[in-house]
Amino acid sequence: MSSKRYILNKKRKNILTRNFIGNTPIRRCDYLSSIYNTNIFIKEEFHNPGMSSKDRPALFMIEDAIRKGKIKPGGTFVEASSGNTGYGLAMIAKEMGYAAKIFVSKSCSLEKIEMLKSVGAKVEICDNSNGLHDFYSTQFKAQSYAANNLNSYFTNQYYNSSNIKAHYRTTAPEIWEQMKGKVTHFIAGIGTGGTISGVGRFFKEKNRNIKIWGVEPVGSVLSHFLSHRTLPEEYITIEPIEGIGRTFIPGALDINYVDKIFQIGLLDSKSAAQEYKNITGFLVGFSSAAIIGTLKKHINDLAFRPTDYVVLLFPDHGSRYLSKLYSKNCIANEKSKIIC
Ligand SMILES: Cc1ncc(COP(=O)(O)O)c(C=O)c1O
Repeated sequence: MSSKRYILNKKRKNILTRNFIGNTPIRRCDYLSSIYNTNIFIKEEFHNPGMSSKDRPALFMIEDAIRKGKIKPGGTFVEASSGNTGYGLAMIAKEMGYAAKIFVSKSCSLEKIEMLKSVGAKVEICDNSNGLHDFYSTQFKAQSYAANNLNSYFTNQYYNSSNIKAHYRTTAPEIWEQMKGKVTHFIAGIGTGGTISGVGRFFKEKNRNIKIWGVEPVGSVLSHFLSHRTLPEEYITIEPIEGIGRTFIPGALDINYVDKIFQIGLLDSKSAAQEYKNITGFLVGFSSAAIIGTLKKHINDLAFRPTDYVVLLFPDHGSRYLSKLYSKNCIANEKSKIIC
């Protein structure tokens, strides 16, 4: 190896990905702003080193566990993840001298599974079709793995307060500063609830009138819970939009800071992704497409004014969903699978 190359690699060793988490850009979307006759901004979380917003809670949960002595050097961080938290965890864990074991659902995109393996994670594919408390689910398997393996720690993003804290302490203040305090609406997809709860709490503390709106797939129970404070008597199959939608109420969701939750279907989300790509050239992630689809579907409920400042949080990038969102046949294939 030439000495020049060696120096470059030596320097690289000092570059830790975790030092680059956060401080992601926000940009005005002229296309959506013109359609809805308001000011729409997008917080682009795919600029994080692990290419998703979930790097933030991953770092907070890891640092918290190490600080509290829940794991010793060389141990294994365990998580149930649709892929993004898992990737953030595995990336940071590896850098800090830990291993990662990630349980993903069989509906997880192939791109995400390959990415997890590329940062050294051990991946186990599970079946979440009977909910996250079922014996075969990611959540159950992760919990039992951590219970049965010494020096392993289940970060448990659904019930870990560091998940909300990461967004309260980093995502929200960043947006506030970038928007110079001019925010009237914040819209995010809900999975664990960490993003909307952390950002929602920060914004409501600044100004109670800021509207905090969530997005979930049809079949998810969170909007019902927000309006009735009970779970629905009848469950319908949840439409699989990666990263969002739940059949239980996650501990990381604090509904005190959420004003409304909209539901959107799988096909509406896919069409929104493709339309947005055709017009703007941007490939958006699945749950980001669900937000764009929500704007279109619920246009009459939004009542945006030209003076509003609406922030949409895009957690990841469309390159993670090429096969699911952008391949030629993905809409036609899905149509034949869904029983409406
Ligand atoms: C792509 C994507 N969108 C949205 C979310 C939901 O974010 P939160 O878990 O903070 O509610 C996740 C969570 O994993 C995600 O991976």
